[in-house]
Parts: sequence; structure tokens; C-alpha cells
Amino acid sequence: MPDTATPAAPSALTDPARRAEARARLDHLWGRGTRFLGSEYALLAGAMSWVSERNLVSAISNAGGFGVLACGAMEPARLAEEIAATQALTTRPFGVNLITMHPQLDELVRVCLDAGITHVVLAGGIPSGPVIRAIKEGGAKVIAFAPALVLAKRLMRLGVDALVIEGSEAGGHVGPVSLTVLAQEILPHVHDVPVFVAGGLGRGDAILSYLEQGASGAQLGTRFAASRESIAHENFKKAFIRANARDAVTSVQLDERFPVIPVRGLNNAGTRRFVQHQAETLRRFQSGELTKEAAQLDIEHFWAGALRRAVVDGDVENGSVMAGQSVGMITGEQPVGEIIKQLVDQAIDALIRQDERARYG
Ligand SMILES: Cc1cc2nc3c(=O)[nH]c(=O)nc-3n(C[C@H](O)[C@H](O)[C@H](O)COP(=O)(O)O)c2cc1C
Repeated sequence: MPDTATPAAPSALTDPARRAEARARLDHLWGRGTRFLGSEYALLAGAMSWVSERNLVSAISNAGGFGVLACGAMEPARLAEEIAATQALTTRPFGVNLITMHPQLDELVRVCLDAGITHVVLAGGIPSGPVIRAIKEGGAKVIAFAPALVLAKRLMRLGVDALVIEGSEAGGHVGPVSLTVLAQEILPHVHDVPVFVAGGLGRGDAILSYLEQGASGAQLGTRFAASRESIAHENFKKAFIRANARDAVTSVQLDERFPVIPVRGLNNAGTRRFVQHQAETLRRFQSGELTKEAAQLDIEHFWAGALRRAVVDGDVENGSVMAGQSVGMITGEQPVGEIIKQLVDQAIDALIRQDERARYG
């Protein structure tokens, strides 16, 4: 469906020849991304722990996007099972996201390679050279996150095949810099590997603007978390549908001696209690009741199991409802195929509008 929100040139927007021409331009713009992923659209669904499992991942790949399984804290045997179950639901390529600090990372890599996984996404820190080499020697491609230009260059020297640059607008663990700025810092200087943009993306016209800056595709998480095929609890999806962009906030750190890894999620009783918990832990540290190490651990443990509580159990008041700022653009529970089609149609509409402006001012 063409996007009818903007009244510009309705006849051009619905003209099949103009749409086909714009679609061909879009395919050209993200051609490097689609060739790299082996998918119809260069739209990755970012891995989301507890959410990105067989059903969502296969639905995304079957709809022409590129699904990514979230390994999270899974053991190797459990990951092997989830990969096999996903392969039973789709014949299209999908990736697996591994967290670099997982104690069994080497075994997880082996599981992916044995299962014929074509793309491994390494998250949670800069991956080591040996892990990157092992994946590549096993015949799969490596995708890694570059939070700054200097790290993008380092990752390319280490041999990664593609980069994701994720802005602070994203859901889950985030860095401090917005995608607007990261894109300007990195896209003009990285040509050797495809770069996918992530963070705060909810519309196809926004994705198009990054393709025009040199990105090869985009990664979205939040919009797919509330999709029909997502197995997230209905309370989790309802919270996404209700929320505005401003409700997706980053976790607050009370004292710089006790660092808190920033996580973006919906403001709720849990996020408010986390601040009180830090204040109480600080008081116990200052009174000598807790050592610095014990206090730090106490703060880190506050959120243990909290994402599962929200996604699986539906406790959206006390759990961690990780969500990006694009949550404000979710207005209902849509099938994955419809979300992807809408994103592509919005990009096509934007290309036609550009063309109209160039022709008629
Ligand atoms: C509920 C949730 C869980 C996530 N879990 C992970 C994860 O386990 N590993 C990871 O690399 N990224 C994780 N992310 C980040 C996504 O993969 C993706 O990069 C991000 O959602 C993109 O930004 P957006 O949310 O604005 O679309 C998570 C995001 C959300 C919303």
C-alpha cells in the first residue's frame, strides 16, 4: 500500500510503472546488502534475547528480510536445537547472534558452522581475532558492531565481513551516540565492507536516507518485537503499542564509581526501583557494610532474569521491557510480512516524491 499520509503526487505514487522504477532504484541502493545477506530486502531483524527464536526468525526470512536468532545465554546443545527448528521453518538464510563474553563461545561457533549457518553476528564487545578467523575458516561470514570509526577500522583489519552501526536510539544495550551522528562519522569512511544502520528506525523513508548516505541496509529490532509472529507475551506487545518514544529511556547510573551498562527500555516500576536500589547499595557501601566489589555485583544482579520476566512472563511493571525509541511508531500488532512491505513501500514512496521534486520543483 502506498503511504497516503503525505498528499504529494498521489497519481505518481500509485502509477505501477513509477513504483517499479523506484523499486529498481531501491534494489540498486541496497544491492550490496541483499547480495551479502542473500535476502530479497537488506532488512535485518536484530537479534533480541527471548524474542528472536524460531518463529520470528523464520517469519522474517520467509517474508524476504533476514532474521537473526538470539543465542543469549543458551548452552550449545540448546542453540543447535533452535537452529534446527528454525531451519525446519525456512529454507532461506538467517543469522545467529552470539555474545562474545559467553563462556562457551568456541563451542557455539562450532554449532553454527556444523549447522551450515552462513552469517554469525558477534555482539557484546569487540570480538577476538581467533574467533573471527574460526568463523571465516568454517565458511560463514562475520558481522560485528562498530560503535566508533576507530573500532570500525580495527574490526575490518581483524577480517569482519560487515558492520552494524547502532545508534543510542535502539532498544537493549546501547552506546552513547545517536545513529544520525554515527552515520556521519562512519559511512563516508568505510567502503571495504557493507555497513548496516540500526537504532530508532521505524519507517522506510528514514532507512532510504541512510542508504543514500552509503549504508547497505538496515537492522530493526523494536518494530519486530511486537509483531504477530513474535512469541513475546501479550502484555509485552501491549506495552509496546501503548508507549511513546519518550517512554523508552536508558538506565540511570547514580554514582560513577558503580558503572551501569546503559540499556534502553520502557520506563516502569522496575526502572524506578533500580534507582532506589542503587541509592540503598551506595548507602551500604558507604557505611562499610558492603565492599566495593560486592556493591557493584549487587547493582549488576538487580536486572538478572528481568528481560525474561517481561517477555515470557508478561510482567511489564517489574521486568525489563527493552525497547527502542521507534516504539512510538508501533500502533498495533502487525504480521512481519506487513511490516516489511510497509517499510519497502515507504522507501518507494519517498523515491517517487524525490523524483517528482526533481521534475517539478
Ligand atoms: C527486547 C530487545 C532485546 C534485545 N536483545 C539483544 C540481544 O540479545 N543481542 C543483541 O545484539 N541485540 C539485542 N537487541 C538489539 C537489537 O538486536 C537491535 O539492534 C535493536 O533493537 C535495533 O534498534 P531498534 O530497537 O531501534 O529497532 C535487543 C533489542 C530489543 C528491543
